[in-house]
Amino acid sequence: MDYGMLCAQARSLAEAEGWYVALMANASALLWETLPDINWAGFYIVRDGALTLGPFQGKTACIHIPRDKGVCGAAWRENKTMLVPDVHAFPGHIACDSASNAEIVIPLRDAAGEVKAVLDIDSPTPNRFSEADRQGLEAFAHEIERAMKGLEA
Ligand code: SME
Repeated sequence: MDYGMLCAQARSLAEAEGWYVALMANASALLWETLPDINWAGFYIVRDGALTLGPFQGKTACIHIPRDKGVCGAAWRENKTMLVPDVHAFPGHIACDSASNAEIVIPLRDAAGEVKAVLDIDSPTPNRFSEADRQGLEAFAHEIERAMKGLEA
């Protein structure tokens, strides 16, 4: 997986359009067409005290995730990437798509370091995401996070 290329594409998407909804929509489409062996890729945005479904690719998903629920809630609460090799072994995992077996969730932060959104990617293959995937996808998320200045709007 060429994460350098993926990040360069994310950067040019962010330069083309700074509105976070359009950027997240194209970013999820880019992940969907580039990353092998995934069944969901998209964003949840912090809104009214919960994570709320944002732009994504994949099956319809749950709309609200509280701070104390799911892998996404843990990434928000702990302000760190959650790399989960087996979602069935993760307490509180929310099964939106029963095909999901592994996932990675990466927080997107504002300039003060506060989590404003998360990037959630699911796979049907247990142990799908490696350390290299974590580093590459954190760099990808960083390109998106730069363009989130208007997130409150
Ligand atoms: N897996 C997430 C829920 C969202 S769906 O995967 C799209 C979680 O447990 O946080």
